[in-house]
Order: sequence, then structure tokens, then C-alpha cells
Amino acid sequence: MTEIRSVEWVGGEDGHVRILDQTLLPGEETYIDISFLKSACEAIRTLKVRGAPLLGVFGLYALALGVRQLGNSTGAQKAMQDSARSIKATRPTAVNLSAEIDSSTRTAKNVEDVSMLVAMTIARGSAVAKSDAAASDMIGQHGQELIADGGLYLTHCNTGSLATAGIGTALGIFKTAHRAGKRFRVLVPESRPLLQGSRLTAWELEREGIPYKLCCESALGAIYSTMNVHATITGADRIARNGDTANKTGTLIHAILCERYGVPFYIAAPFSTFDTGCPNGEGVPIEHRGAHEVRRVKGILVAPAEANAVNPAFDVTPAELISGFVTEKGILQPPFGD
Ligand code: MRU
Repeated sequence: MTEIRSVEWVGGEDGHVRILDQTLLPGEETYIDISFLKSACEAIRTLKVRGAPLLGVFGLYALALGVRQLGNSTGAQKAMQDSARSIKATRPTAVNLSAEIDSSTRTAKNVEDVSMLVAMTIARGSAVAKSDAAASDMIGQHGQELIADGGLYLTHCNTGSLATAGIGTALGIFKTAHRAGKRFRVLVPESRPLLQGSRLTAWELEREGIPYKLCCESALGAIYSTMNVHATITGADRIARNGDTANKTGTLIHAILCERYGVPFYIAAPFSTFDTGCPNGEGVPIEHRGAHEVRRVKGILVAPAEANAVNPAFDVTPAELISGFVTEKGILQPPFGD
């Protein structure tokens, strides 16, 4: 089976980024080409491209587009700083986005030639994509001890090839197990408001032939209290030094229910999602999104047109509720050290 390529740089310095538009899945598999900074930022904001590790890769390609577009009028360094600021403002919680941009701007702080800076940034994006794909493979391997033949597993949001440059983190563990011939089932909460679970995770599981069932988040209490769940594995958008973990809103509901019903709760994430500068969950910036996402489902109004809503895109699970962190170096427990 061909692996999904959610983000790819096409061509040389004068090329563009090609993305699979995730807002159209699962109905339509449409790739779009992005050549300008503004449309790159819009693609991030509207979740055409999403998932913490994948945003790290796409952010660098967006930076290259910004430097190419603005560099000849403002100078390479100012173009890089201005573009970096716009890109980082699009989604504050996923640490990979700001961390890759900051590390790239630091490395290139003395480069004054526009074309060289563009080439360097594209090359860096491709290198990050390659190392993220390798990290996904290793997470998939290390996670195998969590998957038992015949087991029932829960996950949240989407952590597969639509969220990383490889097979994925939590979903990568399921894919690796399935490809090795293990038989197990996955329950997929829809992940309201934007339905990354039912639209994206279900689409990826179906492509792989992994048996799954959908559920609503409101059914999680009934599920954990009555079904024999083997383990829950989710991804992360930012992991603080003490292990507190920000991930898609609803993750904390799983963690609390797991503790109540004795189900192991794991986070699967590459080292690039660990934020060593953030001591604990209180330091994680949480993105709050518009009420329109709650009022509508795929554009259809499901509430009064003017209804207001609270819409935090992420929540923070305290480290003490997490059984372990599946990383490319094995399953770790905090404190993580340096
Ligand atoms: O808002 P999203 O869809 O970008 O949120 C994605 C998640 O919360 C994922 O679990 C996380 O980024 C990890 S992806 C490997």
C-alpha cells in the first residue's frame, strides 16, 4: 500500500508545497499547491494541514515561501523574521511549529542571501520530515508491547500519516501491530468539533484494514465503565518537562476515565514534541477557537445561529494520569531530564 504524503515540497527553490487538504476528507482526496505565505498560514489556521509533527515540517516550508516572497523587497533576515512571526501565530499549542521555526531562524541568522536562505529552509523542512518519519517507525516498534492479540484500544483525534511525516504516533503503533499480523480492535471517538477522529482516523484505519468502530465523546463514560478496554493511546501537541501533556480537547476525559476504571493511558510522541523549556502544564499556551466550529458540523448549523460557545482546542492531562510515553527511544516516564 502506498503511504499517504500529507505534505511535500515539489520542485526546487521556485517550487511549492503540496498538501492533502484534510478539511475535505474523507469525502474527497484533493491535493492543493501552496506558493505564498498567506495561503500557507490560512491552510494551518483552517486545519487543511494539522497535527503537531506535520506542522513542524509544513511550518518550515511556509517559512521558505515567506522568505522567497518578501526577501527581495525587505532583505532576507527581515523577511524571515516577519514570516516566522506570522506562521507561529497561526497555532500556538503545537510546539513543533514554533520550535522548528525558532531553531531554523537561529541557525540562519547570518544568512543574507535570499536564494540561499530559501534553499536552506526547504532542505531543513525535508530533513525534519525524514527524521519525523523515522521517529514514527521507532514509536511504532516500541509501542508493540502495549498491543495484545484480541485487545480493544481507544485513541483520540488523529495521530497518523495525516498528522506526521510518517506512519504516525499512536496510529503508527496500531499500523505496525496490524502489519505484523496482530488482531485487535480500535474505538475511535469522533473528536468534536472538527471530527478528526471520525473523518481522518477512521479513514486511515479503513485504508489499513484495521477493524474499528466510531463512538461519540459523550459515550466514553459508558464505554470505559462497561467494556474491557486494554489501553488508550493518544498523541501530544506539547509535553512539559514534568510530563503534563497538552493534546486535542477530550484527551483529559480519557485519562480521568482510565484512572477511574484501571485502564493504562499512554501518550505516543516523538522527542520533537517535548518542550524542555516548559516546566509543567500551566506553561502551555492553549489555543481557543471560534464558536462557529461548535455551532456547525461540516458547515451545517446545529445550534441557534448566534449561539456563543467555549471552544478550547486542547486540554492538559496531568503527568500522574499517564502510564508512560512511547517515544523513538522507548517507553519513558518523567522526570525526563535534559
Ligand atoms: O487540532 P489538531 O487536529 O492539529 O490536533 C492534533 C492532535 O491533537 C494530535 O493528537 C497531536 O497533534 C499529535 S499528532 C501525532
